Amino acid sequence: MKKKILVTGGTGFIGSAICNFFSNKGYSITILDNNSRGKTNRIKKSKNINIIKGDIKNYDDVYKSASGTNCIFHLAAINGTKFFYEKPDEVLDVSCKGIINVIDVAKKLKIKNIFLASSSEVYHLPNKIPTDETEPLKIPDVFNSRYSYSGGKILTELLGINNAKFFKKMVIFRPHNVYGKDMGEEHVIPELIKKVKSAKTSIKIKGSGLETRSFIYIEDFLEAFYVIFKKGKHLNIYNIGTEERVKILDLAKIIIKIFKKKLSISNEKIAKGGTKHRCPDISKIKKLGFQKKISLNEGLSLIIK
Ligand SMILES: NC(=O)c1ccc[n+]([C@@H]2O[C@H](COP(=O)([O-])OP(=O)(O)OC[C@H]3O[C@@H](n4cnc5c(N)ncnc54)[C@H](O)[C@@H]3O)[C@@H](O)[C@H]2O)c1
Repeated sequence: MKKKILVTGGTGFIGSAICNFFSNKGYSITILDNNSRGKTNRIKKSKNINIIKGDIKNYDDVYKSASGTNCIFHLAAINGTKFFYEKPDEVLDVSCKGIINVIDVAKKLKIKNIFLASSSEVYHLPNKIPTDETEPLKIPDVFNSRYSYSGGKILTELLGINNAKFFKKMVIFRPHNVYGKDMGEEHVIPELIKKVKSAKTSIKIKGSGLETRSFIYIEDFLEAFYVIFKKGKHLNIYNIGTEERVKILDLAKIIIKIFKKKLSISNEKIAKGGTKHRCPDISKIKKLGFQKKISLNEGLSLIIK
């Protein structure tokens, strides 16, 4: 039987891309989103997609939107680093009540397949880079509000894992720095693009510039997620990302080059709690058949054009 899927956070950057992708493949999709960060105009018009405006924190909204579906992709969350510092209480409220409602409703409606969005943030400062899925998860300082987000994601994982007996397939995925068009402004790449675009002579980058990240283009993310959807195993966790690491300084230089500008680069202080290096070990999704297609240079050119 073809799956009927509830996508929470479905008008968000990644959620909307997932909805359009799965609807193109003929799946029937229901979206639950309060559109706080999501936008309905990201969703391509299709008879396969039904959008419900509602709150993941509200049991009845989740129940109503999950009725008639047999699979849940749970992505609703308050994303964007600045919000982790500015409204940590809300960040936790959405992630905690959200996952509790998703699990309770799935149990009630006997929905047997759930895919939960976690994050690379759960690794904080990993012991190993590239980091595989067995890395211990950490909250280094409960008083730093930044960890409201990763705390909520760790709780999401714990609740998913400890309720796994109610599901045929309970899968957790940990995205690592997904980028693409219209991704929202509170992320490294759009922040840099904005700075470079408006700069005349110089830009400031956060941190020393020697910090590294691995970015995955949204089209590659979708391929990886689809592979997990099709072949991912019950009670498993999968990193989604690439092993192509880049220093933030080099990332700024690539963007400056695409804009054909000559700008000097200086540094500014970074908020406390960030991590120096982040790069996933993606052996698990490679084994399932995932292969990255779009390089960082290509992806950046695509979004800047
Ligand atoms: N973008 C990344 O690189 C990245 C990395 C790691 C993890 N993730 C995770 O992937 C998922 C999608 O991320 P994204 O980049 O698309 O973020 P996003 O902010 O674009 O999407 C999240 C969606 O959740 C919705 N939402 C927020 N609060 C809600 C509420 N109370 N009720 C209903 N909907 C609500 C927002 O309106 C938004 O549409 C999130 O769970 C995020 O934590 C993303």
